[in-house]
Formats: sequence, C-alpha cells, structure tokens
Amino acid sequence: MHPTSLLGLLAFVAAASAMPTHKRSHTAHSSSSIQNLKNKIKYVVVLEMENRSFDNLLGGQTLKGLENPINNGPFCNPYNVTDDGQGIVCSQAKDMDSILDDPDHTVTGNNIEFYGTFTPDNDAISSGELTASQKGFVSEQLRMYDGTDVNRTKLAQEVINYYTEDQVPVLTSLVQNYITFNHWHSDLPGPTAPNRAYVLSGTSAGHGTNDDDFNSDKHGLTQRSIFQQLSETNRTWKNYITDPAEQMADALFFDWTYTSDNQGLAAPLPDFYTDAASGHLPDFSFVEPSCCGVGTNSMHPTGLISDGEGLIRDVYNALRASPVWNETLLLLTFDETGGFHDHVPPPLAPRPDNLTYTEKAPNGESYTFSFDRLGGRVPTLLISPWVGKGMVEQKGTNSDGETVSYSASSLLRTLGYLWDFDPFTPRVSGAASFDHLIQSTKRTDTPVSLPSPSPFSDSLGSESTQQQIR
Ligand SMILES: *[C@@H]1O[C@H](CO)[C@@H](O)[C@H](O)[C@H]1NC(C)=O
Ligand SMILES: *[C@@H]1O[C@H](CO)[C@@H](O)[C@H](O)[C@H]1NC(C)=O
Ligand SMILES: *[C@@H]1O[C@H](CO)[C@@H](O)[C@H](O)[C@H]1NC(C)=O
Ligand SMILES: *[C@@H]1O[C@H](CO)[C@@H](O)[C@H](O)[C@H]1NC(C)=O
Ligand SMILES: *[C@@H]1O[C@H](CO)[C@@H](O)[C@H](O)[C@H]1NC(C)=O
Repeated sequence: MHPTSLLGLLAFVAAASAMPTHKRSHTAHSSSSIQNLKNKIKYVVVLEMENRSFDNLLGGQTLKGLENPINNGPFCNPYNVTDDGQGIVCSQAKDMDSILDDPDHTVTGNNIEFYGTFTPDNDAISSGELTASQKGFVSEQLRMYDGTDVNRTKLAQEVINYYTEDQVPVLTSLVQNYITFNHWHSDLPGPTAPNRAYVLSGTSAGHGTNDDDFNSDKHGLTQRSIFQQLSETNRTWKNYITDPAEQMADALFFDWTYTSDNQGLAAPLPDFYTDAASGHLPDFSFVEPSCCGVGTNSMHPTGLISDGEGLIRDVYNALRASPVWNETLLLLTFDETGGFHDHVPPPLAPRPDNLTYTEKAPNGESYTFSFDRLGGRVPTLLISPWVGKGMVEQKGTNSDGETVSYSASSLLRTLGYLWDFDPFTPRVSGAASFDHLIQSTKRTDTPVSLPSPSPFSDSLGSESTQQQIR
C-alpha cells in the first residue's frame, strides 16, 4: 500500500471509531480534506455546456433545498422593465426543447436583465447599496425580438419558463444521485469565451466579449492556464471537442498551447470514449460540446435540450463503465446563463487583475466593467462515487473562512489543492473550494447508466402538444 493511502486509511479508521454512526465530514481548505481528496481522486473530468441559467434548466427539480421556481417561485418579471403598467409574466413549468430566439447575454445585456438598466451605477453596486432585482429578462427578450408578427407570450416563456423533471430526465437522475451546487455562478456576467477563459485561467484578461483574441489565427490569451500548469508539472491533460471541424478547442485560446506545440492535446470526442473505456484518461479532461445551433449538443439556443442531455448521458455512462471510475470526479457545469432568467442576484467578487472592459450598450451609452462581481447562477453538479447522494450544496467557504457563493473559479481553487499549485489570480484565491465534498467512503449505489432523453415539443400551448411532452 502506498504510504499516503495508509495514512488516509488510519485517519479514516480513527474518525470512524470516533463517530461510528456518521459519515466523516471534512472542512474545506483543511489539510485533512485536501489529503483525502488526493487519496481518492486521480482523474478530473470537466464537461462544460453552454448558456443556461440555474432557474431555467434546474427550475423544475423538486429536490428539497434547491432554490428554484418550483420550490420557491413563481418568480415574475414585468413585460417592460421601465414601465410596470404593461403587466407581468411569471415563471411556469415547461420550456421548449429548442429556443429559437437566443437571449441577450452581453455584459450590458446582463446589466439590464439583472439591474433593469444597461448602465447601472458601478459604485453603488460595489458599495452594496445597489442589488440586482433580476427583473429585466423578459423586457430585454422583447426588446431584442419584438415586432408586429411575434408572439410576446412565447418570447417571455422562452426566458422565464423552466424545464420539468420529465423534460430533462438525465439531469433529474444526476440531481437525485449526486451533488448539486445551489449557488454556483459564472465568473463574468457576459458571454461564452471570456467565461471559458475564467474557468481555465481565473481571469478573462480584460475581455468581455467573444473577440478576435479567442480566434484560431490569434491564440491571443497570454496568461497562465490550467493546461500550461499541468504540462509544466508533468501531469497530463486533453481537451476533447465534439466538433473539431467546426470549432477550435478552448485550450487554443492560450498562446502557450500553441507555441509549446501542444495543439495535439485537443482531441476529438470519440477519443474520450476510448480513453475512458481503456482506463487511460489523462489527469485532466476538459470536454466541450458542439456549439451553438441546430444539431449541436451544448444546450445553446437553437440546439435541442434533449441533444445536450444525450451528451451528458454518454459522458456519464462512459465514466461509470470505466476501470478508473473509482478514482474519477466529474464536474458538469455551464459557461454562463445565456440570458435566461435566474432570480438570485450575483454577488460581488475579488477583481482578478486591474483590467477593465468597455462596451457600447444598445442604447448608445458606454459602460465600463471592472470584473468585480460574478455572473448569474449556472447549473453545476459534482459527480463521483465519492460524493453524497441527492445532496444540495449551499454556499461554500473561502480560505479566510468567509461564506461565499461558488463560482467557476472554485474549480481552479480545488484543482490547486489536488495538484499542488497556487491560485493564478486573486479571483481564484478568494473562491470557495469543494475538496471537502469528497467523502471518505466510496458509494456502491451509483446508477450504472442514465435514462435516454427524447426530443419534446417546442410549442407549449395546446393540450395535445402538452401530451407529447411526456
Ligand atoms: C480503484 O480501484 C483500483 C483497482 O481495483 C485500485 O487499485 C485503486 O486503489 C482504487 N482506488 C481507490 C481510490 O479506491
Ligand atoms: C418600455 O416602455 C418604454 C416607455 O413606454 C418604451 O420606450 C420602451 O420601448 C419599452 N420597452 C420594451 C422592451 O417594450
Ligand atoms: C518533469 O519531468 C522532467 C523530465 O522527466 C523533469 O526533468 C522535471 O524535473 C519534472 N518536473 C516536475 C515539476 O516534476
Ligand atoms: C492592482 O493595482 C494596485 C494599485 O496599483 C496594485 O497594488 C495591485 O497589486 C494590482 N493588482 C493586481 C492583481 O495586479
Ligand atoms: C402564443 O404562444 C402561447 C404560448 O406558447 C400560445 O399558448 C398561444 O396560443 C400563442 N398565440 C398565438 C396567437 O399564436
């Protein structure tokens, strides 16, 4: 037996004899928790989907402790955020498999969705005087797509309705069998590429939009990424991508990946399935869906929710059948909220660096963001035989012992403990870690496979349509 496993075993025996009837619980950031994490987890897989908020995708999950529309709602938005007289619309069960009208998810779009204005008062936000109302989602969807021939009810439902347990059977099974984070936010109230940069490097380096620096002819991000960190410490990684012909791997955002000649570590998704089956996964697997439209599986509008569920099921089933399942941790998360409604205001967070980003709002005003607060809540689950069944994790703690919401940077905070590296930025230093959620005993009741999703209707109106929705 390896000495560290022996220590882990002795610690476990000691704890078990002290508290015979309780599962041992760890404290985040503590050395015993970190040692337990190192003993149990050798492979980390991150599956990062696209553009869905917590209330939208997990809004119909009835598990106790989840804060969502079915448990705590309904939540309502005015049709017009500057004119309450135009009536309100409230969250209802059932959303469409494919959302045809992609909601606004720019920085200023998030502003109006959260604060009711494209240009909120930054000083009032950072001093705590101004909290988001989360009332502008419907109004912004109508501003984007309103016209004489549109169905305003349908537009509103697209952003404020939520999926039922029956509509998302794969997620429902995962929620019931593993850990769901109730307060996990994207790191930036803005779009995909900068949020993906946060997940991988703890900052977007001042980027607030999907600009040219993220493109394949630029590789314009020069900050340290998880990929560079792992390579330089002799750990292995692969960035598996669903659609290599259409899409550049996120690892190639980073200049380092390109100049160190590591492009080959961006591998097609079928390699993930064979690597899982043979037990030869790299230490770190970063799995990307195809993005973002008809026939893609990221859950991004207009791709089908049910196609996204198919990808999640396939990734889970492959890991569950893998010879290294007993040493694997899967984090299922989303890059950002995509402009879908969520009722929880995003909290303040440490600035990762001294950079700012300025964009012109749709009303012509200029808005400068200093990266001092998080984006909306995104669905995030922790999946492993070493985590609790059907658990809801509330807020976490940072290394100063303060209670804080989780964010995308919680991943790098925790991986730093697992693989011995320091936080890349103050945002990561200040993030809650989740090492303590790894238990000391392995579960034997994890589902061998997940249910198969099926496509459901895109119109929610008539009785006959509703019956098709299972
Ligand atoms: C996982 O299983 C393998 C093979 O049975 C074993 O060698 C290894 O110690 C196990 N790992 C953990 C963390 O239990
Ligand atoms: C909201 O109402 C104001 C004032 O009546 C109007 O100028 C604006 O266009 C409306 N916005 C939407 C999204 O309907
Ligand atoms: C990584 O491996 C190389 C070659 O074996 C070795 O020279 C180097 O010291 C190792 N680096 C670390 C951080 O372990
Ligand atoms: C930001 O600027 C301040 C003041 O110039 C400096 O003290 C601090 O170290 C900088 N922070 C980062 C993360 O660069
Ligand atoms: C508008 O959409 C709602 C909900 O999707 C539906 O019930 C209604 O029949 C639609 N109205 C028209 C005129 O199509």
